Amino acid sequence: MRLAGKTALITGAARGIGLAFAKRYVAEGATVAIGDIDLEAARRAAEEIGPKAIAIEMDVARQDSIETAVAEAITRMGRIDILVNNAAIFTAAPIAEITRADHDRAFAINVTGTLFTLQAVARHMIAEGIRGRIINMASQAGRRGEPLVAVYCATKAAVISLTQSAGLDLIRHGINVNAISPGVVDGEHWDGVDAFFARYEGKPPGQKKREVAQAVPHGRMGRAEDLTGMAVFLASEEADYIVSQTYNVDGGQWMS
Ligand SMILES: NC(=O)c1ccc[n+]([C@@H]2O[C@H](COP(=O)([O-])OP(=O)(O)OC[C@H]3O[C@@H](n4cnc5c(N)ncnc54)[C@H](O)[C@@H]3O)[C@@H](O)[C@H]2O)c1
Repeated sequence: MRLAGKTALITGAARGIGLAFAKRYVAEGATVAIGDIDLEAARRAAEEIGPKAIAIEMDVARQDSIETAVAEAITRMGRIDILVNNAAIFTAAPIAEITRADHDRAFAINVTGTLFTLQAVARHMIAEGIRGRIINMASQAGRRGEPLVAVYCATKAAVISLTQSAGLDLIRHGINVNAISPGVVDGEHWDGVDAFFARYEGKPPGQKKREVAQAVPHGRMGRAEDLTGMAVFLASEEADYIVSQTYNVDGGQWMS
């Protein structure tokens, strides 16, 4: 029960990694708001978790939605001690085929959404004197370029940079900002990635997943549950002296 009595807002938590975080946070004693653009899926997730989880409609690409959702989370949970900026979309295309619309949508959700959700929650934490925790979801894709994934890689590099600056700014208020950088984590997100590579590299469905799994030093793709330990640790009292860091939780992928 390392998060006993704490309240957390997790964006994009209706499925995948965010949902695994919500389940684990509740198991550690927290109350969790699942903020997701897909309200129906968020409601199903909250019902599955039980009375310590609530569903909130939230589109992190819209400022009015961020403000409404953060206010709703505060009203229904009393306060926000922990924010996990997890909502993001994947997009990929060769440089010659990137569209302005795809680029703008990915940056609006992955970068601008992360910044202004962080800002809205940080304002609440500062006003209430909450020594809060903010965790951003980065990616190994933010640590290097990839030939067909320029826009997504750039958004995740921006998340790592925002984590550094926000962490340095907000620690004077007692708010720790850090990030987690997963490698390849199986789930709906990677189903989409696999389908993309099937189209652009002519691979049969499932082959890209098998290739990336073999390339991970640990010997398999990650599971959402592999990341929950770091998400609890960074939200806990034990992480008090950790500021502006991005931690790889990737089975050794980045190191290789
Ligand atoms: N799966 C991986 O291999 C992997 C690797 C590295 C980093 N990550 C990062 O981890 C995080 C979670 O990934 P995942 O695999 O669970 O993704 P996912 O696609 O399974 O889930 C993302 C969730 O975000 C929600 N969402 C999308 N747009 C939104 C918006 N505008 N506002 C609010 N919610 C929105 C979706 O409805 C969905 O529930 C993301 O930040 C992702 O970039 C994932």
